[in-house]
Order: sequence, then structure tokens, then C-alpha cells
Amino acid sequence: MGKIVIRGGKPLFGEVTIHGAKNAVLPILAATVVVGGVHIIENCPELSDVSTTVEILKELGAKVTRCGDKLTIDTTCELSHYIPEKLMRKLRSSIIFMGAVLARNKKAKISSPGGCELGPRPIDLHIKALRELGAKITEEHGYLVCSADSLLGKEIHLDIPSVGATENAMLLAVAAEGTTVIQNAAREPEIEDLALFLNKMGAKILGAGTSTVTVVGRKKLTAAQHRVMPDRIVAATYLCAAAATGGEIIVRDVCPEHLSAVLAVLSDCGCMIQKGSNYIRLCAPKTLLSVSSIKTMPYPGFPTDAQSLFLAMLSKSKGTTIISETIFESRFCVAAELCRMGAKISVDSRVAVVQGVDSLYGACVSAADLRGGAALVVAALGASGKTEINSPHYIYRGYENFEENLKTLGADIAYEE
Ligand code: UD1
Repeated sequence: MGKIVIRGGKPLFGEVTIHGAKNAVLPILAATVVVGGVHIIENCPELSDVSTTVEILKELGAKVTRCGDKLTIDTTCELSHYIPEKLMRKLRSSIIFMGAVLARNKKAKISSPGGCELGPRPIDLHIKALRELGAKITEEHGYLVCSADSLLGKEIHLDIPSVGATENAMLLAVAAEGTTVIQNAAREPEIEDLALFLNKMGAKILGAGTSTVTVVGRKKLTAAQHRVMPDRIVAATYLCAAAATGGEIIVRDVCPEHLSAVLAVLSDCGCMIQKGSNYIRLCAPKTLLSVSSIKTMPYPGFPTDAQSLFLAMLSKSKGTTIISETIFESRFCVAAELCRMGAKISVDSRVAVVQGVDSLYGACVSAADLRGGAALVVAALGASGKTEINSPHYIYRGYENFEENLKTLGADIAYEE
């Protein structure tokens, strides 16, 4: 297995264009299953998570072709209702196919996705929401066996505003008789993007992006074309990398309002931020300032997916920052690797205390999850000397042309076998 090798200490300068959002592409690709036809999805990044989702679509019987960033998904023929364990385990968010396959076939048999590197990731809210709509779901030998002979719109209250459970409920609700109201829905922009696509298919979804999402079911659906929204976490990654190196960059093809919480913290750290309608320019100070506290929250709060990036970036700063993780309990694993690079971080359960140091140094480290891996890249770019990052496959789950883009910005970075 290869590694990413970075010789750090070079400020990043220049421009980078942000690709489509992984977390929007995945549910949108699942939504193409809901009705047969030829769907066209543009701005689909080439990521291993997208490839796995395409594998699932093909396993179900869809025909999928890629031309540049455009995926054509033909779901016209009869589709299977079965997704085997080997595919479900590759990608936990494949659970999103439960609602989509049920909506299409009125039955589904999919493997339980299992835990992952972020600690236990339950699916109880997904199951509860789909049962509310009339789905019968039993667990048999590690598989979720689902049927849905009569689906009825309902008021669903999510105990936690789960992104995946909101999306799963939306996907099944379009096939239910009557109106579904999802209360305490997640408000992430990716949910709005899914609603936009489903509405292009002919669905009637109101309120996506707010805590109350209303789905009027059983509308006549047809295949649709859609361009996926930009990836706000990838944008945050390049901004953090520029900030960690004392650089100045412009990220293009972004929605700055999706990054409000992230930009507010970057600004508190001393970065100058300038926003246009679809770009953000960041100019970093010589030395980053610590911020009193960062707490991850559901959108529009500070995103858990950006937490590791800030942990890495603020490792080299003036002062102490307290970071609280409220969404995924095992998201501080990367702290131990950052400490190998000279960071001073102490973790107690869901709280990390980051005592900023003047400089980090290169070391041999390992990625253990997607954003943690990207965080190691951020730290390494700002560190002196050579860093080797093992298990880079985690990073390729969410970043297209990562090394190439960073090289264009002036980084000394390479993938080595
Ligand atoms: C999605 C994103 C992920 C992001 C996360 C939170 C995708 C593909 N992934 O993940 O990158 O970090 O949102 O913004 O879009 N929970 C339950 N029971 C459930 C479901 C969730 O207790 O049935 C809990 C989780 O353990 C977690 C919280 O709810 O503590 C939020 O999780 P959720 O919003 O569901 O995250 P994902 O959709 O898995």
C-alpha cells in the first residue's frame, strides 16, 4: 500500500476549484433507483466512495457510465432488491439505499452496514422513520429484510437531526400515499440538494434545509438531470491548509454561505476572508491565533467533518483552543498522530485541549479515517521536514486530485508506492 509524502513549510498560494459534494452525490445516486429511467448527474467527483456507490447501483441492475464528471444512470430495467454485505461494509452511508430500494421495489434485503472508524454509527433512527411510513423491517443473520406493501404518509419526529435518516425518510416518503412531515429534520445543504433532485424528478418536497421537511407522496416521477452542489468540507480543507502554511488562496465553485461557521472560526484565527458569490479568498496571518472554543453541531453549526482539520491547523498556533465533539465520539483518533508531529493535544472523551506550539515537525503517521487523514495532510503542509502519511486510501474516499491540486498551490507532495 502506498503513502503520501509531504515536505512541509511551503506557504500555499493560488486557486483551486472545488469538486461536487461527496455527501450530496451519494444520496442523489441512490435516488436514481426510486424511478426507472435515464438520469444524468453532473459534477460527480471521482472518489472511491462514489465508485462504491456505482458498484451498488450496478449490483442492483442499473447501467452506469461516466463521461468526465457526468454520470449517466439507467435504472429503466427491473432492479434487484438485494445488496450484499461486501458492498454495504465498504460504505456505511450505503444504508441510504434502504429507503430508495424500498420505494422502487416495495422490498429490500441489505446487509447491516456495521460500525466504522468513527465509533458505533447506529441506524435506529433510519429504521424507526421507515417503519413509521409502513415498512416492515426485521434483522435476520446480519441482514435487514424489509417490505413495504402499503406505505402511508405520516408525521415523523427524529430524536436527533440525523442527515442519513432524514434522507432515507425523504426517499421512501415520495412513494407513500399522502403527506409525510419530518420533524427535527437535519438541515444540511446536502439534504436540500437531494430535495432539489427529487423535485426535478417530479416529487413535491417542501422545507428541505429547515427542521420541518414536508413530502407530498405518490407524485408521478420521471428520470431527471442534476448538477451536484460543491463540497463544503473539501473547500474547508484547502482553506485550513492555506491557513496552516501562512498562505493565500482562492477556492472557486463554492457556496460561501455553506461555510459560514467554518469561515467565522478562520476569521477568529486571524485569517482575512473575502467572499464572492461562488468563491472565497483567504489570506493567513504569520501566526494563527487560538480560539477559545469550537463545538461541533448539526448544520448550521460547526461541522463535525471539519473538526479534525481545525485540530490539525490549530496545533500550530498561539494560545489554547478547546474543541468539543458532540456528533461522533471517536473523532479525536487523529490527535495521537498529530502529537507524533510535535502537537500538544490532550483528549478526554469528547473534549480536546489543543495547546498551540510554534512549529510542528515531520513524522511517519497513519490515516485512520477520511477527515483525520486530510487533517494529517494539513498538519504536514505546515510542518517543517518530511512527513509520510500511510493508509492514504481513507483520504481518497473524499478528495479528488488531492495531491495534484496541492502541488498546483505550491506544496511539495507526492504519492509514493
Ligand atoms: C452524515 C455525513 C457525515 C457527517 C454526518 C454529520 C454523509 C454520507 N455522511 O453522516 O460525513 O459527518 O452526516 O454531519 O452524508 N445517529 C443515531 N441513530 C441513527 C443515525 C444517527 O443515533 O439512526 C446519530 C449518530 O451516531 C451521530 C448523529 O446521529 O451521533 C448524527 O449522525 P448522522 O447525521 O446520521 O450522520 P450520517 O448521516 O451517518
